[in-house]
Amino acid sequence: MKERIEQLKKAIEAFSVKTEKDVEQFRLQFLTKKSELNQLFADFKEVPSELKKELGKELNLLKNFAEETHRVHQETWSSANADAEKDLNDYTLPGYQSGSGNRHPLQIVRNRMTDIFMRMGFDVSEGPEIEDDWHNFSALNFPENHPARDMQDTFFIDADRSLRTHTSSVQVRVMESQKPPIRTISPGRVYRNEAISARSNCFFHQIEGLYIDKGVSFADLKQTLFQFVKEFFGADTQVRFRPSYFPFTEPSAEMDIYLGTGTEADYRLTKGSGWLEILGCGMVDKQVLSNCGIDPETYTGFAFGMGIERITMFQYGVKDLRTFFENDVRFLNQFASV
Ligand code: PHE
Repeated sequence: MKERIEQLKKAIEAFSVKTEKDVEQFRLQFLTKKSELNQLFADFKEVPSELKKELGKELNLLKNFAEETHRVHQETWSSANADAEKDLNDYTLPGYQSGSGNRHPLQIVRNRMTDIFMRMGFDVSEGPEIEDDWHNFSALNFPENHPARDMQDTFFIDADRSLRTHTSSVQVRVMESQKPPIRTISPGRVYRNEAISARSNCFFHQIEGLYIDKGVSFADLKQTLFQFVKEFFGADTQVRFRPSYFPFTEPSAEMDIYLGTGTEADYRLTKGSGWLEILGCGMVDKQVLSNCGIDPETYTGFAFGMGIERITMFQYGVKDLRTFFENDVRFLNQFASV
């Protein structure tokens, strides 16, 4: 009997449990009425009385061992516990750091510009990027089939609609819907059918401004722009106006700021002249005012428009305009502290 007890113990130890089903198998093999263990207890009655004490003790130990082993298997392999065993996550580990985002450089510059004009009393207006011919061209004095339309290569959608080529279209909408005094800027994305290069893209961003009231003069235009340049580029910035042409302003001008030719970058950017053109401007043409329902005998106004990319490139020394639209975080992260 002693031998049978030892063999059974070995068998219990050797039984390998790998699934929940094996646990049940274990129970069937070692713990039922038909099991060897039960048989041993039955045969125990036949054991001579002088051996009963010793063998009885061993048999009880074996029974405890079988039951305890079963309990451990059960605990380990019951479905819930098995799942818990598989969950090896250490919840005390510190989490992953997620980096904080930052504004896009074009947005930073746009916000700075908007801020300056808002302090001068301008409000902000927005309009649709898909425009009809009237708001983008006709109201602004571009006659049909007039070569002036070639100034801005246009993406046409159909005969009457195109992607806006400037945010002057927003100013038309403001003039049509509001009564002077009007003092507004219109920032936004515009589209032109141009070859993509380091210096130009088929879409870019503008801020245009409009001021209409009784007695607004070219002196007001100059003063507004001087104030802007002073605040944006610094108090000592030199400025010059050159006569220019736009169908919707008369007289028209372009404004340059002086960078000098001290560095190679400035030399290149200004094509050796030291002057960088930053905006177009002028007095709103009488015809445009009356197109939009404003009496040109009572009111006068000025308008100006500038590209945000160009000024951002100059401000941060960005050499290739395309980098603004590639969304390369290595480029964008450089503006994190601005
Ligand atoms: N709309 C012109 C452009 O996109 C800029 C401009 C605005 C010029 C207002 C004069 C007055 O080129």
